[in-house]
Amino acid sequence: MTTKETGKIISISGATVRTDLSDLTLFERVSVGDNNLTGEVVRLEKESSVLQVYEDPVGLGIGEPVYGHGVSLTTTLGPGLLSVMFDGLQRPLHALTDKTGPFIHPIHLETSLDLKKQWTFTPLINNGDTVSGGVKIGYIDEGPFKHPIIMPNGRKGRVKTIVRGTITLGDSLCKLEDGSEIFGYHSWPMRVPRPYRKKISPGEPVITGQRIIDFLFPLARGGTSIIPGGFGTGKTILEQTIAKHADVDIVIYAGCGERGNEMSELIEEFLELVDPRTGCPLMSRTVLVVNTSNMPVAAREASIYTAVTLGEYYRDLGFHVLLLADSISRWAEALREISSSLEEMPGEEGYPTYLASRLSSFVERAGVVETLSGDIGSLSMILSVSPPGGDFTEPVTQALLRTSGAFLMLDTTLANSRHFPAINWMQSYSLYQNVLADHFKNNVSNDWEILRSLCREIMHKEESLKEIMEIVGIEGLQEQDRLVMQIAAQIRADFLAQNAYTEDAFSEPAKMLDIIRNITDQYIKGGEHTTSKSENETL
Ligand SMILES: Nc1ncnc2c1ncn2[C@@H]1O[C@H](COP(=O)(O)OP(=O)(O)OP(=O)(O)O)[C@@H](O)[C@H]1O
Ligand SMILES: [Mg+2]
Repeated sequence: MTTKETGKIISISGATVRTDLSDLTLFERVSVGDNNLTGEVVRLEKESSVLQVYEDPVGLGIGEPVYGHGVSLTTTLGPGLLSVMFDGLQRPLHALTDKTGPFIHPIHLETSLDLKKQWTFTPLINNGDTVSGGVKIGYIDEGPFKHPIIMPNGRKGRVKTIVRGTITLGDSLCKLEDGSEIFGYHSWPMRVPRPYRKKISPGEPVITGQRIIDFLFPLARGGTSIIPGGFGTGKTILEQTIAKHADVDIVIYAGCGERGNEMSELIEEFLELVDPRTGCPLMSRTVLVVNTSNMPVAAREASIYTAVTLGEYYRDLGFHVLLLADSISRWAEALREISSSLEEMPGEEGYPTYLASRLSSFVERAGVVETLSGDIGSLSMILSVSPPGGDFTEPVTQALLRTSGAFLMLDTTLANSRHFPAINWMQSYSLYQNVLADHFKNNVSNDWEILRSLCREIMHKEESLKEIMEIVGIEGLQEQDRLVMQIAAQIRADFLAQNAYTEDAFSEPAKMLDIIRNITDQYIKGGEHTTSKSENETL
């Protein structure tokens, strides 16, 4: 990459560095110091600029050089991303550890993708064809997928030559008559949403295999669910279980500020587990973006943009993508740290005043779209939130609540009683339920919605009966109410709870329906639910 400017470091405060360069642009990528640490311009002043360094700044000195790259931080997109674990700046961790060992030191890696690896390319266009942005010029076989290579947006021309067979990403795949070339990969500025033809309203679910989610609080393809939960309530296990089983083509898992050992266990497991849809290791449909708690905090802020750009890329290839992030609170803490080192005016709880707008512009990158190639692709998000002290009124949870369609509240009392997933069925909700009702009706059963409202009715009754029971005891309840309490207990134990470490970790929708039907049968027979009784006769 060509460097635009050269300047000097004039002051350093942690990972915040001031340089005498003044003609940089906001969010421009910079290389800082003798070790070429990657950074970004975060503030421009009259005769200096403030930079955020995303790598460990230990050893950085005044007077060391600063280079402006003339472009913003980018994500490299193309075949070879799947199965790889990247850091927040999209450097492949295996390449970093090969060079520096397990304790990563700053090194300069030119590209995130292996440009020498050989692939098989099959063209879909011929010499003389006129091609424009969005046209699929061919595809590369990548594990279980055919990875389309798409003409970049804004380009147009007549094809002069196109290759076939074994290629590397360093080779030009197609030459146009105007002399320009098309490669198998390209870069995209990570903070800029990728273009599409149009957004489409969500209408299909992401089947997570978690009964309480799919049945009571479903997530739509292209939608966003948040999972706020206090310490140890099961956020990580729930996200990882969904990453294993969700019925999507591609999973992007962003481990953001969480424990490193949890990520290494996840990778080991993913290498062993087989994706039932393709028969390939689960890892071959997964990209991991890892910025664990022991890695530089500042890069954590960039890591979710790396992850979402990767997600949008696969969406643009016509895939259904699920982005899981654990946890957005750690990202917000990184943002707070950067903001305070810039001495910005703090907002609520010390977070910058732009916290909510940053979060909503991130969440808005989810959606179902018609791609520039005319395919349908989707990017769905499931984001865990770790509110300090389990207080859901804190700014990160509140900001996400306003922008997300489903709220899966993890409950400390349930987790303490070892009821997992500890999703509170009284306080959680999904705004996607109505738009998905037809899908479940047409693809699973007419009874889906009927049994769903019956299940909710029983759980609500249990809640109100609990208060009465505290006063009069179970013996004081009427026989019918005792039946409600007994069935609700069974729903909790056999339907809403799911142990992530057993075969039961994943449940097909049809199986979900069988379980809930069997349990609620006694309720209907007991004459408790009159509407369902007549509905049941027609079923
Ligand atoms: N679905 C589940 N099935 C069985 N056990 C579970 C399940 N979910 C969580 N657990 C248990 O709860 C423990 C804590 O879960 P987890 O690490 O996911 O919590 P967390 O909310 O991510 O915690 P932290 O706030 O520390 O990040 C796990 O080690 C496991 O024993
Ligand atoms: Mg966790």
